[in-house]
Amino acid sequence: MIEKVQHILKEIEEFKAESQEQLERFKSAFVGKKGIIGDLFDQLKNIAPEQRKEVGKQLNDLKEVANEKWKLLVGKVESLKDSKASNAVDLTLPAVPDQLGSIHPITQMKMRIIEIFERIGFNVSEGPEIESDWYNFSALNFPPDHPAREMQDTFFVEKNPDIVLRTHTSSVQIRAMENQKPPIRTLCLGRVYRNEAISARAHCFFHQVEGLYVGENVSFADLKQTLYHFVKEMFGKDTKIRFRPSYFPFTEPSAEVDISCDIDNPKGCEICGGAKNICKGTGWVEIAGSGMVHPNVLANCGIDPEKYTGFAFGMGLERMTQLKYRVNDLRMYSENDVRFLRQFSGLNF
Ligand code: PHE
Repeated sequence: MIEKVQHILKEIEEFKAESQEQLERFKSAFVGKKGIIGDLFDQLKNIAPEQRKEVGKQLNDLKEVANEKWKLLVGKVESLKDSKASNAVDLTLPAVPDQLGSIHPITQMKMRIIEIFERIGFNVSEGPEIESDWYNFSALNFPPDHPAREMQDTFFVEKNPDIVLRTHTSSVQIRAMENQKPPIRTLCLGRVYRNEAISARAHCFFHQVEGLYVGENVSFADLKQTLYHFVKEMFGKDTKIRFRPSYFPFTEPSAEVDISCDIDNPKGCEICGGAKNICKGTGWVEIAGSGMVHPNVLANCGIDPEKYTGFAFGMGLERMTQLKYRVNDLRMYSENDVRFLRQFSGLNF
């Protein structure tokens, strides 16, 4: 009998249950009155009276061990059930959308402009945002103390010799002409800085794109046609273009470039959104400065002005984006407000 008890004890200790069925098996084998332990209690009456007390005690201990193990196994099976439930995948739940960012409207505009000019043979050049006086002014034919330097409210990093935050991307024209031989067809897009009070219409930094073409027999007609091509690609084939005489030290002759905003269109001004606050009711909006590269500028970069001519133009990316998407406050571009940025997430240039 005692051996039997020991054997059952061992069986109970080694019993493992991971499912409801195994639990039931344990119960009917060891816990219920009809199990082996119950049987042993029934057999107690057959034991010799002098041993009965001892065997009875052992049977009670065995019953105790079986009950403890039962509680343990029930707890284990329950917790297994819980963890399975939490790991289960519910395929009927709606998917959690990924939070995708979007490309900044200025960057999208930049990509679009590059795409248009790439197709007519322009590459992209880069230059630093902190420039020496030479690249930002002197090489571009701004004589020292010339009032034209005052046209651009410059941020100085150092004085004498002057180091400035570039006020325009024309500095990259110089770098491109220094490093490449004609024919040169290049674009420079980047950030420029001017010391202006920040408002809806002005900011202390903005982005420009500068185009430069230097080669033999490059003419003003080429400049006109290039910009006309660009404007049609960007704003639609019916967009009209006009050139107004202007002045820049680094181009001669120089012109400002306007595009039509269709004031006669019954829908209102197509480009400035009918608001007329951009074209001020004139039907024309300015988009670029341009001109034929001044011979002094070519000579400053070691290019023979007798042999080569060139044109250059420069425009503001914010302005372009404003016209295309009717953004009426320049500050929006740098405030990083997701409600603004999200509106450009679906655009695909
Ligand atoms: N650099 C001029 C500006 O910032 C724009 C320009 C570029 C004009 C090239 C003519 C030619 O205003």
